[in-house]
Amino acid sequence: MEERILALRKELEHHNYLYYVLSQPVISDYDYDMLMKELEQLEKEYPQLADPNSPTQRVGNDVNLEFQQVRHQYPMLSLDNTYSEDELADFDARVKKELTDDCRYVCELKYDGLSVSLTYRNGALLRAVTRGDGIQGDDVTANVRTIRSVPLKLRGNDFPEEFEIRGEVVMLHGTFEKLNAERAETGETPFANPRNAASGTLKMQNSAQVAKRPLDCFLYFLLGEKLPAGSHFDNLEKAREWGFKIPLYAAVCNTIEEVAAFIAKWEKERDKLPFDIDGIVVKVDNLSQQKQLGMRAKSPRWAVAYKFPAERVETLLESISYQVGRTGAITPVANLSPVRLAGTTVKRASLHNADQIQLLDIRVGDTVYVEKGGEIIPKVIGVNREKRPADCPPTVFISRCPECDSVLQRNEGEAAWFCPNRNCPPQVKGRLEHFISRKAMNIDSLGEGKIELLYDKGLVHIASDLYHLTAAQITGLEKVITDEEGNRRKIAFGTRTAENMLSGIEASKNVPFERVLYAIGIRYVGETIAQKLARSFKNIDALAKASYEEMIAVDEIGGRIAGSVVDFFAQADNVALIENLKQAGLQLAVDESAFRQKSDVLEGKSIVVSGVFSIPRDDIKKIIEEHGGKNTGSISSNTSYVLAGEKMGPEKLKKAEKLKVPVISEEEFYRLIGYS
Ligand code: IVH
Repeated sequence: MEERILALRKELEHHNYLYYVLSQPVISDYDYDMLMKELEQLEKEYPQLADPNSPTQRVGNDVNLEFQQVRHQYPMLSLDNTYSEDELADFDARVKKELTDDCRYVCELKYDGLSVSLTYRNGALLRAVTRGDGIQGDDVTANVRTIRSVPLKLRGNDFPEEFEIRGEVVMLHGTFEKLNAERAETGETPFANPRNAASGTLKMQNSAQVAKRPLDCFLYFLLGEKLPAGSHFDNLEKAREWGFKIPLYAAVCNTIEEVAAFIAKWEKERDKLPFDIDGIVVKVDNLSQQKQLGMRAKSPRWAVAYKFPAERVETLLESISYQVGRTGAITPVANLSPVRLAGTTVKRASLHNADQIQLLDIRVGDTVYVEKGGEIIPKVIGVNREKRPADCPPTVFISRCPECDSVLQRNEGEAAWFCPNRNCPPQVKGRLEHFISRKAMNIDSLGEGKIELLYDKGLVHIASDLYHLTAAQITGLEKVITDEEGNRRKIAFGTRTAENMLSGIEASKNVPFERVLYAIGIRYVGETIAQKLARSFKNIDALAKASYEEMIAVDEIGGRIAGSVVDFFAQADNVALIENLKQAGLQLAVDESAFRQKSDVLEGKSIVVSGVFSIPRDDIKKIIEEHGGKNTGSISSNTSYVLAGEKMGPEKLKKAEKLKVPVISEEEFYRLIGYS
């Protein structure tokens, strides 16, 4: 029976390849299903012959995964961006200057998805990891197995014993539209663009769910010790033979003019592709030349991304509405005649603030230019004056809060008007939403409008109210809500939902102090600042007592933040909130035992970190502490090392030389602590 199972797997994998990679199926869906059914049956009968890379496993399973963190064998770098032909010519000149021989380039599309790194051993998929911070990412192997265009077993036999291949997981436009239509029907918030949808899908905890939302994976980079060829292009051709989906759009260019022509062609034709691209990637083809050119801290010198200018469209500004945020800031929002922009339909766009409206003289009735900046929220960037109707009055920014009618205020030197009433409903709800959000207390059982319902029913007003909720209070509550897009949906709390909500709230009592501090929502105290304050002051009482001067003495805490923290603790209702949270049992002090010392190789060493690194500088500092070292701000004769990244200031370098303090690179640092 083993033979039949193996034969079926091979045959199915082959048809899978013909269908999903080459788009040239040779058997009917029915015949394919029959083969699959036979294999499923046999695997059920002979569980000892199971294989995670069997084609039957592509449907995923219902196991909920907490993703494991995996260290990349080679860091996952990003690319330098260029936006013009001039910058491209600079890249070409830098390459030519460094290389003695002629070089040719490979141009590829820059797929707009999320990058993954796949490792194969002995021709079978071993592991799939997301980019993460470039040094380590999430192990998403179970989810990637469901992507039909990723081979689980390779074809042929001339692949290296072990290698890595990188690519982009994307969602095709058709799948995206269908998924969003379904979400609208079931009342879920639609994804903003295919990239978010792909990323949201790949990070789902349940691979059976992932399998239901077909993703695709385009590969573009082969890494390993023993690659088949000395040319990037040839390696990818080889990888295509092994069964990978290597898109056919790539081209070899012998001159930078040919590169420019490739870019121009795709800038014009990108709309015709069934997936999103945000530019073109230009790579030096020859691997030994790549090696010669080497790396910068975050990106290779042998490649560059040419980013397409943001797409811009014209549409009618129908009206302006005003939203009140968590801090009371008023955001003007443009309501537009629906218009297609970069793959999605846009109905609303940001108008920034009152100054911007005045500066651009934006009026209702105008035909405005809308652009997608960084793909997130589209924004209005100007007005087509020629199309302005004669009777279009200038916009007068509101002077009272649209929610509670308070007179709006504006602080000296700040652009935003804000509502000063801290009890204004959107502010109260906003603070609660922030409190439960993922990076704060992460109570996802309260997401998707549930907080709104609890607030509307008068059950929660401040965060600490959450910890007094009972099942009896919340079971059976229901409400119809209308989201920003005007979609209506009903939410109702059954017994299960209620239990779920309460256990989520209970679990949040273990969230570490630094995140509680972020959750409380002190103005200007973002995630990183909360971390810094927590580490320096160790508990909430010490922080509440700290003076402005004590606070600005902390590395990276400036006057604006210190002022805001002092103000916060000066208000009686905030002091009461903290007291209530304390009563509820939240973590309001750092747990010293949670700090994991990984080694003591840097014991007694004072290190100054300066410049730009392949990972955020704070992460470097954390690694130093984890290995027993101490971070210091300025170079002195007591400094053990200066850890120098890219763009470190020449003054610092001089000072280090003068004081004979050793300067080490990021790579040397990793070697020092045994990471590579
Ligand atoms: S090569 C060291 N090729 O763009 C070079 N990247 O901005 C590694 N991307 O993280 C990248 N299409 O997620 C390469 N044809 C392509 C690409 C591509 C999309 C993404 C990738 C990378 C990001 C860098």
